[in-house]
Amino acid sequence: SENANEAMNKKYREIISTLPKLDPPHPTYEIYQYNGFWFHSSILEATLSLSDNFKAQPSDIYLCSSPKTGTTWLKALAFSIMTRDRFSDDDSTNPLLNQVPHNCVPTLEVDFYANPSFLDTELPVLATHVPYACLPPSILESDCKIIYICREPKDTFVSWWHYDKKQQQTFGIETGTTVEQDLKSFHNGTSMYGPYWDHVLEYLKESVDRPERVFFLTYEDLKSDTLCYVKKLAEFMGKPFTEEEVNQGAVEKIVARCNIKTLSNLEVNKSGYFDLKQWKINNSSFFRKGEVGDWKNLLTKDMAKSIDQITQEKFHPVGLKF
Ligand code: A3P
Repeated sequence: SENANEAMNKKYREIISTLPKLDPPHPTYEIYQYNGFWFHSSILEATLSLSDNFKAQPSDIYLCSSPKTGTTWLKALAFSIMTRDRFSDDDSTNPLLNQVPHNCVPTLEVDFYANPSFLDTELPVLATHVPYACLPPSILESDCKIIYICREPKDTFVSWWHYDKKQQQTFGIETGTTVEQDLKSFHNGTSMYGPYWDHVLEYLKESVDRPERVFFLTYEDLKSDTLCYVKKLAEFMGKPFTEEEVNQGAVEKIVARCNIKTLSNLEVNKSGYFDLKQWKINNSSFFRKGEVGDWKNLLTKDMAKSIDQITQEKFHPVGLKF
């Protein structure tokens, strides 16, 4: 009931109010630290509520990522892999033609409050940015599959920086922060769902311990051999391509459908927007360049060095190189 919900939300807000708060505060958002990670307050409220209330099904597949690491692309690919026998041969009825990929695969902690009915999808594919240890226990305790995508840290930061600036301009919430200041937050780990490196390492560890449960992939690998990784993804998701499908070009078709140029040229992704309760997001802001190494156009050598140093410390010992 409405009252029970209100009481629940009050409970989570009370828990949140006892947590470390970002200091000095973010200019527009309330940011709190939970389980070692930094969350936007309303995202954290949803995360806590999901922990208590969300029931994962054993057949579910979760697409997990930090923001700006290729989530939109992975959603489009996973959706296409799972639904490939549902649409007409020429693909003209494919929902990806008139819906942003984020509508085809909902994000747990974002859609939970904004549009709870989104979670009643027929397709057992859902997404989340929540760190591994903060996933709802029903996901952690079940055998459902997880696909994690990560990206070179400098490119991830730069992608986020452009996205955030665009959001700020569109919705008149300019923070006036410089690249240096924002990079410092990323570096210190106080960016959304940060520290970025720890987010990656938690999922990487799980994928090493239980490769049948967690498939770990990088944006760079996916870019360099999309066909090969789409086949691997399909196998992992339990929907391998048959020899006949491969011969008929089914994999190529999916790769083409999910190409950044194809998707970003669709009307829905040019002019549509995503209406969440707390904020709006233009669909176009999910598609920018989609290139590897674009950090060179924003960061100085010294800035790059400061990020590379952490990457070396945190990623090299576990064999993760970009
Ligand atoms: P850039 O800002 O570097 O261009 P997310 O989907 O996690 O928010 O990540 C967004 C990044 O993925 C952006 O990177 C965006 O351009 C890129 N991207 C979006 N759709 C893509 C696609 N279909 N193929 C490749 N990259 C894509």
